[in-house]
Amino acid sequence: MAFLKKFLLPILMVFLAYYYYSSHDEFRPEMLQGKKVIVTGASKGIGREMAYHLAKMGAHVVLTARSEEALQKVVTRCLDLGAASAHHIAGNMEDMTFAEEFVVEAGKLMGGLDMLILNHVLYVPLGFFHDDINIVRRSMEINFYSFVVLSITALPMLKQSKGSIAVVSSVAGKVSHPLIAPYSASKFALDGFFSSLRSEFLVNRVNVSITLCVLGLVDTETAMKATSGIYTGYAAPKEECALEIIKGTVLRQDELYYDRSMWTTFLLGNPGRKIIEFITTKKIKWDKIIGN
Ligand SMILES: *[C@@H]1O[C@H](CO)[C@@H](O)[C@H](O)[C@H]1NC(C)=O
Repeated sequence: MAFLKKFLLPILMVFLAYYYYSSHDEFRPEMLQGKKVIVTGASKGIGREMAYHLAKMGAHVVLTARSEEALQKVVTRCLDLGAASAHHIAGNMEDMTFAEEFVVEAGKLMGGLDMLILNHVLYVPLGFFHDDINIVRRSMEINFYSFVVLSITALPMLKQSKGSIAVVSSVAGKVSHPLIAPYSASKFALDGFFSSLRSEFLVNRVNVSITLCVLGLVDTETAMKATSGIYTGYAAPKEECALEIIKGTVLRQDELYYDRSMWTTFLLGNPGRKIIEFITTKKIKWDKIIGN
């Protein structure tokens, strides 16, 4: 009982206060009606589920992935589900020229852009890291660098629409994870880059929201194949995960945690980081930087 009073109750209070103060507007599916949305990695898994949700909500979508054939099927289904329009452009996110051209083309197809959902990822089987330097480079290029290229190319359109970027990441982008070192590194990089960019946007009054989506294990075919027989954790449903990403992004949340364990959300909240970030920002002489 003493333990309860001393630790558990204060922790619970902080937790509830955090939730109370970070709660935003209520989500309504109409918020996506007629919105112009890009989804990458949309041929399967969470990306495909996001495309279907967006279609049901009446959004315009431009989808990308490597497989033309798979994308074509997703587009057809999106149109059946009620998408305002649905297009696809197949290509490889290892090719940065493609990444740039894709955003420009997508913008032309929809006549602008409201939401950029960055979701594609390099598939790497679980295993100890030995000497495969090439996998590190490819993970950084596909999982990180292409996200930067896509965002920067889309930024003029997003500034105009006061739009949003969703950066799909992972718990492995917040805490270390054995057997997926290159993946984890690339997901950590997303946090460093996009969280810094978000605070620059705040200073420069760029009204483009960035939502970092921190996902636990989700029951996509790829994740199930990779973890089968190796990892014993619970896998959350991809349909619900996809919806949570859309909700958090349209509500302009900074971060979104999707994991079955309440503890993940609570423990990763990291108030220490927020305090240090606040203090660091205060120490910068902004007037010496802005306008240079
Ligand atoms: C930023 O844009 C959103 C969406 O249009 C709007 O709701 C919000 O008030 C804007 N914020 C600022 C600080 O202008």
